[in-house]
Amino acid sequence: MISHEMIDKAARLISGCKRVTALSGAGVSAESGISTYRDAGGLWDRYPEGSSGGILAVMTNHPEDAPQILMGFLEGIKKAKPNPGHRALVDLEEMGYLRAVITQNVDNLHREAGSSQVFEMHGNLYRLRCLKCNKKEIMGREPYFKMLEELINKMTRFSLEEIASNLPSCSCGGSARPDAVAFGEPVQDLPEAMAEAKACDLMLILGTSGVVYPAASLPGVAQSGGAKLIEINPQQSALTGRCDLFLEGKTGEILPRIVSSLREIQGKNIIPPES
Ligand code: APR
Repeated sequence: MISHEMIDKAARLISGCKRVTALSGAGVSAESGISTYRDAGGLWDRYPEGSSGGILAVMTNHPEDAPQILMGFLEGIKKAKPNPGHRALVDLEEMGYLRAVITQNVDNLHREAGSSQVFEMHGNLYRLRCLKCNKKEIMGREPYFKMLEELINKMTRFSLEEIASNLPSCSCGGSARPDAVAFGEPVQDLPEAMAEAKACDLMLILGTSGVVYPAASLPGVAQSGGAKLIEINPQQSALTGRCDLFLEGKTGEILPRIVSSLREIQGKNIIPPES
């Protein structure tokens, strides 16, 4: 359990800042029941080809397992709700410290928790993007899961053609796919994420192994602009070495404790930065 001194040290660092940005990875959603990727037991730990080729590489290599892999992933996402880590970031925003969340996650949980400025570099599962006209539209959870379950139940084995022929249609007549970024595709919101990294004076690095670019380059961008870096992770990552503070533990446990410590500091009339 991380010490009060370390929590207070992180809170004091944040209280002296005007603009905090958070960079989040799959670890932030782990306590919502969604599997991480490279952790022991994570998706790419079970299917190593995923670490460089994503879920499509996994299904291509294990076509007969595709339906159960997808259904397993879907079950995790379906039950997932924002956890105390997501909610603590909303508190930091409401207290006037946190300006934006840059996330690698596609599970929509930061938005569902109430974060108002979320940049989703790897897209969002619940958003459909038309392959013909590129129109994007958010699909509600229920219709989304119904659509995916029908698609998976029809699947005997994985084939891109079969998936493509069962995708929902766009109003333009084209096919629409979940707007999650596949490996090799350009990331989303990169200009906005870079701007937030440059503008912040502190970056929280939360639950990421820090091995996937360009997201993993953002702490360096922030630091070269003079920002402090605080990382929260149960284990060291590829980014730990450059951080000013490393808090070993779960975001769902540590972030709420930092918020409480900040409230105490605020209670001593240390006014938060102008929002
Ligand atoms: N709290 C904080 N961190 C956690 C927790 C937790 N409760 N549980 C696990 N972690 C940490 C792990 O120690 C690990 O460092 O979260 C990190 C998860 O790392 P990855 O599984 O590699 O996930 P991420 O860094 O988000 O991967 C980036 O890779 O495959 C792509 O598109 C995928 O967006 C993903 C990207």
